[in-house]
Amino acid sequence: MNILRFRRWRNHPVLRHLLEDVFFFPQHLICPLFIGESTFIHPELPGMSIYSLLDLPQKIKTLSHLDLHCFVLFPSTDKKDASGTESLNPRGLIPKAIDIIKKTNPKAVIFADVALDPYTDHGHDGILDKNSLVDNEKTVLALEKMSLLLAGAGADFIAPSDMMDGRVWAIRNALDAQGFLSTGILSYAAKYASAFYGPFRSAVKAPAHSLDKKSYQLSPQHKNIGISESLEDVKEGADGLIVKPGVCYLDILSKLKSLVHIPLVSYHVSGEYAMLRYASIHNALDEQRAVLETLHAFRRAGADGVITYYAEDYARWHRASLKL
Ligand code: PBG
Repeated sequence: MNILRFRRWRNHPVLRHLLEDVFFFPQHLICPLFIGESTFIHPELPGMSIYSLLDLPQKIKTLSHLDLHCFVLFPSTDKKDASGTESLNPRGLIPKAIDIIKKTNPKAVIFADVALDPYTDHGHDGILDKNSLVDNEKTVLALEKMSLLLAGAGADFIAPSDMMDGRVWAIRNALDAQGFLSTGILSYAAKYASAFYGPFRSAVKAPAHSLDKKSYQLSPQHKNIGISESLEDVKEGADGLIVKPGVCYLDILSKLKSLVHIPLVSYHVSGEYAMLRYASIHNALDEQRAVLETLHAFRRAGADGVITYYAEDYARWHRASLKL
């Protein structure tokens, strides 16, 4: 018997390049941005800040010079109450931010996150019923209104991150009825109740890091339900799907890739960024190589786009490597 000598293809750098079929470019990146009442450094994510509306144009200019034009936006506000009233303020942080971003960079594409958690004083993604569970129907109604407000403010895509049942269908109908036919829906279809959202929650000033959202977000111990939920979102009219978190759920992403033929996005969440960043700060990792390997893993598993807090760094590294 003859053994297969795969290394014949690996011994020469030119041959290694010849066979590459997984690539990651800055064009695949979506930047998460926190918009706040004042600018401050993120307390838990080294290298990240929350931007005031005043400082936002400068940030957008910097990112557009790096060819970064896609954004997901999150508010960091103290204006919170039980039903998240501030989410429906047409003069709130996010509608204003959308306007500023579009004026600063006419090429910008905005994915507006839709969920009530940054605006509720209890930190849940919806309105609570008398048993302190999130009320599905009341919440979907609020999400419809919020989606219309954000579409009206100029969002290109609505990105519902709440995990209520039937919200994609409801939002699609509301958008269509108001003539927002070209506004898309990028739904957080498979979103897991994860420990990796911790730093995000402090950025949006949530009351607790470890809030239990298991009655609406998916259990990491259920193998197939994320697939069923995603297929349902496609039926309800989603234009694209997000799998979240990223690294721990590559199996779900890869399975979805073989089942649906609409764009898929992986969300490399705040805790995943923090792990790489802290390890790199302590010299336990070669940061650039570790980040690139992670981004390649998303693409290999089937992601078209990737939302990551590393977007700006990656775009800089990519640019520097072109100059070599
Ligand atoms: C909630 C929302 C969360 C994130 C984005 N939208 C977290 C949560 O469910 O509390 C997390 C993103 C991250 O960790 O980077 N609607």
